Amino acid sequence: MSYARIRGTGSYLPERVVTNSELESRIDTSDEWIVSRTGIEARHVAADDELTSDLALAAARNALDAAGLVPGDVDLIIVATTTPDMIFPSTACILQDKLGVGAAAAFDVQAVCTGFIYALTIAERMVATGSHRCALVVGAEVFSRLLDWNDRRTCVLFGDGAGAVVVTPDAEHGVLGTHLGADGSLGHILRVTGGISEGQVRGNPFLEMDGQAVFRLAVRALGESAQKLLAESGVGAEDLDWFIPHQANMRIINALADKVGIARERVVTTVARHGNTSAASVPLALDTAVRDARVSAGQTLLLQGVGGGMTWGSVLLRY
Ligand code: UT7
Repeated sequence: MSYARIRGTGSYLPERVVTNSELESRIDTSDEWIVSRTGIEARHVAADDELTSDLALAAARNALDAAGLVPGDVDLIIVATTTPDMIFPSTACILQDKLGVGAAAAFDVQAVCTGFIYALTIAERMVATGSHRCALVVGAEVFSRLLDWNDRRTCVLFGDGAGAVVVTPDAEHGVLGTHLGADGSLGHILRVTGGISEGQVRGNPFLEMDGQAVFRLAVRALGESAQKLLAESGVGAEDLDWFIPHQANMRIINALADKVGIARERVVTTVARHGNTSAASVPLALDTAVRDARVSAGQTLLLQGVGGGMTWGSVLLRY
């Protein structure tokens, strides 16, 4: 069995940037509150006619270019999203059609902000066992459409975007280990209850969150997940070149880095400019660090996600 390696990364952010000062003019909030509580300064918001699959398509094309591959090489597409274009077909199938990859297997993964970590874990197994040779793994969201833009407790936190990686077999580098977790009994602390039934939307179509409960769970679950995975893999926190956590809040990221023992200079953060882009946040941060040459071949990376469900997970890899 070979390793499954990330061979190329890509991302896409919608053109429109919504700054904290724009939000100040619309709701009872302040740049000072948002920056001091979260580290977020701005977020991107998709145009009315942009769908999750459009964001995913742009990120996927960038990742394929970076890998030196073409859509026809892809035999597996996994899209992690909480904001699919429609109930079905899956966003992965819509992306397959837009890319023109007729024969690739395609499905969505729903683990909210942990979706990309779950999707990468699945793709890694499918490529490492040899059943597939070229996986496109995408995290893509238009989370802005789940927000009540009059609710200052939630609307300032999130943004839209997409990130993608291409995973292929490799003899030497690749995923060293993974850890996934979930606790369905905590579903109520972060959720969108709305759904379609008998021709009507039932439940609340907007995001509801107990921010402090999510904060505590994120630090505890991700801290434990990182410690377990590093111990199992025989890798020390000091051996990590880069830590790329879910980009929700600088205070969560800093608390987590301290808990696991990772120096702050080794942490990739994009939350200031992207906000929380849910399943897109980790691949967006990874692509940012690859393109600005912080991440390079042979380095050891720890990727982590946490989100609704509640779900969480970690991927340790040699890039
Ligand atoms: O992918 C996972 C997604 N979710 C998260 O990661 C969220 C994790 N949680 C958090 O990041 C933090 O809990 C928040 C940033 C959401 C909130 O920070 P906090 O320090 O826990 O604040 P809080 O909820 O305790 O609210 C403090 C005060 C409240 O006012 P009172 O009741 O003390 O008078 C809020 O009403 O801040 C008020 N507040 C705001 N004020 C200005 C809440 N949102 C805002 C706002 N602007 N946008």
